[in-house]
Amino acid sequence: MNQLRRPIEFVKDRLGFETLIKPLDHNAPPETTEGKSQWAYIFGFGILFSFLLQITTGIVLATNYVPSPESAYQSVEFITYEVRFGDTIRAMHWIGASAMVILVLIHAMRVFLTASYKYPREFNWISGVVLLYLTFGMALSGQLLRWDQDGVWTVMVAANFAGRVPFVGEHIAQFVLAGETVSGSTLTQTYALHVFILPIAMVLLIGLHLFLVTYHGISELPKAGKPVNPETYRQEYEEYVEKHQRPYWPQGIWNELFFGGLVVTIIVSLAFFLGPRDLAASPDLTDLDSQPQPDWFIVWYYALISIKPQGYEEVFLVYLPLGFFLFLLILPLIAGKGERHPSKRPFAILGLSVVAGLFIMLTVVGLRAPWVPAYDTEPLQAEQLGTQDERILEGARVFHERGCQYCHQVHGVGGDWGPDLTEVSTRMGPEQIAVRTVQGIGNMPAYQDILTTEEVDLLVEFLTEVDELGPRARE
Ligand code: HEC
Repeated sequence: MNQLRRPIEFVKDRLGFETLIKPLDHNAPPETTEGKSQWAYIFGFGILFSFLLQITTGIVLATNYVPSPESAYQSVEFITYEVRFGDTIRAMHWIGASAMVILVLIHAMRVFLTASYKYPREFNWISGVVLLYLTFGMALSGQLLRWDQDGVWTVMVAANFAGRVPFVGEHIAQFVLAGETVSGSTLTQTYALHVFILPIAMVLLIGLHLFLVTYHGISELPKAGKPVNPETYRQEYEEYVEKHQRPYWPQGIWNELFFGGLVVTIIVSLAFFLGPRDLAASPDLTDLDSQPQPDWFIVWYYALISIKPQGYEEVFLVYLPLGFFLFLLILPLIAGKGERHPSKRPFAILGLSVVAGLFIMLTVVGLRAPWVPAYDTEPLQAEQLGTQDERILEGARVFHERGCQYCHQVHGVGGDWGPDLTEVSTRMGPEQIAVRTVQGIGNMPAYQDILTTEEVDLLVEFLTEVDELGPRARE
């Protein structure tokens, strides 16, 4: 026995183990001793464990992934079909990402419900909100790395959102795309974000978050009629925790470790049985015959795009989401004291229900709506255009065939992703139209490798003359 203890003591002593676990060695609120268990507090550990799992599977994926536009899609196929356990690892990374998003949302809701963001834990909440955004950033950037249609479209939505932000929008959009349009640089920059910049930021912030949790102690469950008063709170908390003498380590941490283990077990089993997310078609934006579908956690935003009332796009797509994100960030600064119990905060609970309800409703709407606005439009016909000119009609066919019509309306037919092109000839000359079409800009894909010179000519001719056609020609 002594033989065994000595090396353990040696390691403990030389590593400073006692000091290492010191932060855990404090008294925790005594929910269990009063007969109530403290299962409300387990979600943070679930997140931590799934994050560690993401890092592990992410490293395995990164060793086989090639972040270049020519090879990215094939390398994901290679991982899925050729690498040993590659499909399970991919599935773990994908299901783990979803699990993390879900757990982060639940954790945030729990903290909101128990109002644990109030004094003195304001920065616990603020660092947590930033972590929430970083988690979404990881999920979004990860999608693009598949470099299939779904991922590429999602990033176009992100750029579209960013581009509408007042003043700085264009710069943000250019930053997101690493240029004027989706290209190879978008992929390499997103790769750097996904494997270096965002994870490092997350590790640092998780460190701060955990430090703050141990520094302030876990919040006690709220009691109605016992508001937070900054003058007396700390002392009362100390006394309360002292009285019950329940050390966090090792008693308090038990349920949390159990839950963390459970989360990992569920992710691994689901990955094993369900397999990875199907790869969508490779990202040829002009070949939209398969319906691209974004990953579920961003579907709500797409739903906003498809139901937004005409004329209020900015409000719905930019100001409301942005306002909500800012509100979350500063919440503890505007509501840092007072009642914590849900029964004394009816408006907070109402607000939470509305937001959660909207999220679910929009997700359902978004999952049903087609991702690209106008999929099922037909090319404009001779009767609609009021012309028999062969070249114009050919141009209308190319406009439809090459996917322009999915995004652009002409005489009321087509999608509203991009600007209406009926009167484009009043805004730009033929040269400019050709340049736009070939080079793309913002959410307008570049067509230079896709269209033949003849097709560009047909499109330009069609677009310069179309204003005079249609209803006007029929008059
Ligand atoms: C994925 C959706 C999408 C597709 C497909 C698409 N466009 Fe666009 N297009 C846009 C968007 C978005 C803009 C606005 C870009 C900006 O100014 O930021 C745009 C802008 C333009 C403009 C400039 C219009 C103006 O008023 O500024 C022209 C011309 C144009 N597109 C032509 C075409 C043609 C021709 C095709 C087919 C070969 C096409 N587009 C396919 C989304 C698309």
